[in-house]
Amino acid sequence: ASHRPLSGRHVLITAGPTWEAIDPVRYIANRSSGKQGFAIAAATAALGAKVTLVAGPVALKTPAGVTRIDVESAEDMSQAVKAALPADVAVMVAAVADWRPKEYRGEKIKKRGSAPPALMLSENPDILTNVAAGGKRPELVIGFAAETENVIDNAKQKRKRKGSDWIVANDVSGDVMGGDMNRVHIVSADGVETLDEMPKSAVAMALAERIAATLKAEAAE
Ligand code: C5P
Repeated sequence: ASHRPLSGRHVLITAGPTWEAIDPVRYIANRSSGKQGFAIAAATAALGAKVTLVAGPVALKTPAGVTRIDVESAEDMSQAVKAALPADVAVMVAAVADWRPKEYRGEKIKKRGSAPPALMLSENPDILTNVAAGGKRPELVIGFAAETENVIDNAKQKRKRKGSDWIVANDVSGDVMGGDMNRVHIVSADGVETLDEMPKSAVAMALAERIAATLKAEAAE
């Protein structure tokens, strides 16, 4: 077998949604299936990387050769990511909830005839921003952007705001969320590369190959 291009590298990936608990039976979530992040875990492992996959609640099998850490909330995911560093590459694919209920109610909130309760929210930690700014910053930090309009412009701004090296932007106005196909634009300091629409597994392999090529180029400098 030939030398695999990501062997000796640690790739840290987040995937799936997060669940933000309101009370013991209720939570806030989103439509992320985790498919694209799991596919990237599978692809980078296939290229020889040691892969840590921090997964929100999803109904997916762990890809071969991948170490999976299951979490529920954004705060749990943030802790698990910190604990998994250092890594050579971080690929933050999770659709992390922007907000969580300000207060967790330890008992189920009762309906009992009164007015609907107001749900107060507070901001979750931005895991991608923290990884990109942190002391153990991976050599290559990659974020995702799910947008329904101005996809590339938003991704360029997001790349700067979050401090990531790449933003992989996808247009989720169609049925990308939960679906098996994806069309992405890779936004980096070098510009924008748009890939054809293809299965999420093929998007993942294209990204894994670009990751390997980038690490190799940087190692040669
Ligand atoms: O700002 P937005 O949620 O669109 O940014 C998406 C990117 O940021 C994704 O890479 C996502 O995984 C990451 N993110 C994060 N923590 C958050 C929110 C987003 O890591 N709290």
